[in-house]
Amino acid sequence: VSEIVVQLGPSSYPVLVGTGTLSSLPDLLQRLCPARSYGLITDSTVARRYAQEHTAKIGSQCHMLEFPAGEWNKTRETWAGLTDRLIQTGAGRDSAIIAFGGGVVGDVAGFVAATFHRGIPYVQVPTTLLAMIDSSVGGKTGLDLPLGKNLVGAFHQPQFVLADIAVLMTLPPHQFAAGISEALKHGAIADAAYFDRIVRDRSDILAREPTALEPLIRKSVEIKAQAVSEDERDTGKRATLNFGHSIAHALEACTGYDLLHGEAVAIGMVVEATIGERMGVTTPGTAVALQSALESFDLPVRIPESATPGAIAEAIGFDKKNRAGSARFALIRDLGSAAQTNTGNWTFDVDIRLVLDVFEHVT
Ligand SMILES: NC(=O)c1ccc[n+]([C@@H]2O[C@H](COP(=O)([O-])OP(=O)(O)OC[C@H]3O[C@@H](n4cnc5c(N)ncnc54)[C@H](O)[C@@H]3O)[C@@H](O)[C@H]2O)c1
Ligand SMILES: [Zn+2]
Repeated sequence: VSEIVVQLGPSSYPVLVGTGTLSSLPDLLQRLCPARSYGLITDSTVARRYAQEHTAKIGSQCHMLEFPAGEWNKTRETWAGLTDRLIQTGAGRDSAIIAFGGGVVGDVAGFVAATFHRGIPYVQVPTTLLAMIDSSVGGKTGLDLPLGKNLVGAFHQPQFVLADIAVLMTLPPHQFAAGISEALKHGAIADAAYFDRIVRDRSDILAREPTALEPLIRKSVEIKAQAVSEDERDTGKRATLNFGHSIAHALEACTGYDLLHGEAVAIGMVVEATIGERMGVTTPGTAVALQSALESFDLPVRIPESATPGAIAEAIGFDKKNRAGSARFALIRDLGSAAQTNTGNWTFDVDIRLVLDVFEHVT
């Protein structure tokens, strides 16, 4: 078992990664997150496969609360329903939440924990690759609104994160690839050798060999934990984790969640690397190299026809009619390092005309 500590002073917490680690959940709860009762929040798919069994193992003071699987359920309605049911189980200020599932469960359950009685402790038990390497670490919780993703939320750090590689064997292939997209992002913003290693170990990773997955998850968690430790509230360097995400979030909003988050990030990284090249920030050739790495994992790299450049531009917040305005993008210098402006900023002002031009001529 690897242990990576997210350093946040008194709120520091461990991320435990290994095969078969779920068997230690009851014990870890007792040691690191003791509570009078637990609300184990999960989705319908994970409930049947894993969560029911583990709820029983934790004991009678643990109540499983499930909602239907899917990004479109990351809503205020789901949050309200879960909160009501939590009260019905007799939960109070001395209870705790177990977020047991993918990134959607982590974000929703984390937000329930952040708001219930003004905040109760919780733990993350991520069951998708994306959740293990990214969303379960860092304390961002939240919900989507009809107008866009993650528009309501709170920072709330977990007591620990427990990732069991064994559960990844049942993850559908496109969900698995979506996780790899975020791993390649971690390499692209922070570690060239890591990026190259993911590409080199491609066949072992796709075969889901634990010997390939454990170091991958560990390295990604280390990169994420480092960014979070330096900038918990996302006012500076943590922005580098948003590489690819300005375009990705807009794509997700425009396509009504036809694209998985990680898939949207894959397309977003190629577009943003191209934008960076055009601005002279990103080394020429980076977008092409990124594209071939993503394609080798069967990830999409082109904007789907259902998302028109105008709609994407609008979703980013540009004034489409007047072709005016700019938005802040996190960019990379090359594969392995995030870019910084002359004044030390981790995001760049990007002009809408450049974005539209890239859409028209490159994608
Ligand atoms: N908080 C953050 O910092 C952060 C960071 C990145 C992404 N996110 C959020 O994470 C969400 C995406 O997370 P996701 O990709 O994990 O999606 P998800 O939670 O929807 O999970 C994907 C699907 O896989 C199923 N599943 C989960 N574990 C499984 C398993 N072990 N075996 C079989 N099926 C399984 C789920 O039921 C679901 O249908 C997005 O909402 C995104 O905004 C948050
Ligand atoms: Zn992401």
